[in-house]
Amino acid sequence: MNILGIETSCDETSAAVIKNGVSVITNVVSSQIKIHEKYGGIVPELASRHHLENVNFVVEEALKGTKKIDAISVTSGPGLIGSLLVGTTTAQAISNILKIPCIGINHIEGHIFANYLRTPEHSPRYRSGEAGQNIRTPVAPPFIALIVSGGHTDLILAEDLGKYKVLGRTRDDAVGEVFDKIAKFLKLGYPGGPVIDKLAKNGNSKSIPFPRPYMRGTWDFSFSGLKTSVINYVREHQNIRTSKHLYDLCASFQQACIDVLIEKTISACKKYRIKKILLGGGVTANSQLRTDIIKKCKSENIKLLLPAISLCTDNAAMIASAGYFKLKKTGLTRHRGVINPSANLELKNW
Ligand code: KG4
Ligand code: ZN
Repeated sequence: MNILGIETSCDETSAAVIKNGVSVITNVVSSQIKIHEKYGGIVPELASRHHLENVNFVVEEALKGTKKIDAISVTSGPGLIGSLLVGTTTAQAISNILKIPCIGINHIEGHIFANYLRTPEHSPRYRSGEAGQNIRTPVAPPFIALIVSGGHTDLILAEDLGKYKVLGRTRDDAVGEVFDKIAKFLKLGYPGGPVIDKLAKNGNSKSIPFPRPYMRGTWDFSFSGLKTSVINYVREHQNIRTSKHLYDLCASFQQACIDVLIEKTISACKKYRIKKILLGGGVTANSQLRTDIIKKCKSENIKLLLPAISLCTDNAAMIASAGYFKLKKTGLTRHRGVINPSANLELKNW
């Protein structure tokens, strides 16, 4: 079964074809970073206009070589409403013409399903499209999912496929947003996560004792206080732009975020007696987060699933995978009516 996925919730226009929920046939991502970087963040109106310009080309490119698609899966929220409208309108137009089902997917759920996808990163012998049919996925629930991106910091208990309980989320800035804002303050460019990750590799993460906002007694997160501490530190230390000091600052800030994320995720596993953790979202590409959580899960004897680096940030392959499993479980076979996108879509069970 081939699913066409479409993702336009933020600043990536993406379309993908996925076979049987796990096998990536194509995954085309057109990034708008070049457009937004001069503003140090995403400008919503520019984002939707560029989605509109690009979406047809991106879908055409993704469909090259595929003879038949059986259903369409599109991000219906949360995200920027103008951007979401471009994707949902495109998906429904194609589904109306081809008379195939169209299903709306929560973007957060998409990040979870990035772990179901097999790419050459997982196995050098894997060739696109060859798996799919018989592949055994190790992602069986229950698991604790940590979704960390520019818009979200969500800790989720998945009791079954499509059965979620959001345990906690950020009360202010998302963790990726804090990486982006600190990078903007330091004039390091946009997005901030990859550049801070790179600079931190040369720094000492113990050199500056930034606070760890553990938010004890709740599963929620709060990173804006940490952001203020970093910004105040930079204001007080005028020489911060010398390279060694900057590396240390990046490493120390990054480690403060990672310590909180890992500690809360492991605690949730212990509390709910779950032995599996799954990560998703752009911040999951962070090299130190990956190293530390692999080590921690090994010592705690917890199974860990990380998406391929190329599937951490926004892409349509993960949306198509989620759509496949949702279609399989809910049995939607006929063409359905309207998918109305929502900027604040909650994670719903199915
Ligand atoms: O999932 P994503 O593409 O978009 C949202 O759904 O928000 O995540 C983008 C976020 C940005 O904030 C970016 O700075 C962050 O992911 N990010 C990283 C890294 N790569 C991307 N954060 C830390 N380390 C990275 N290597
Ligand atoms: Zn995302």
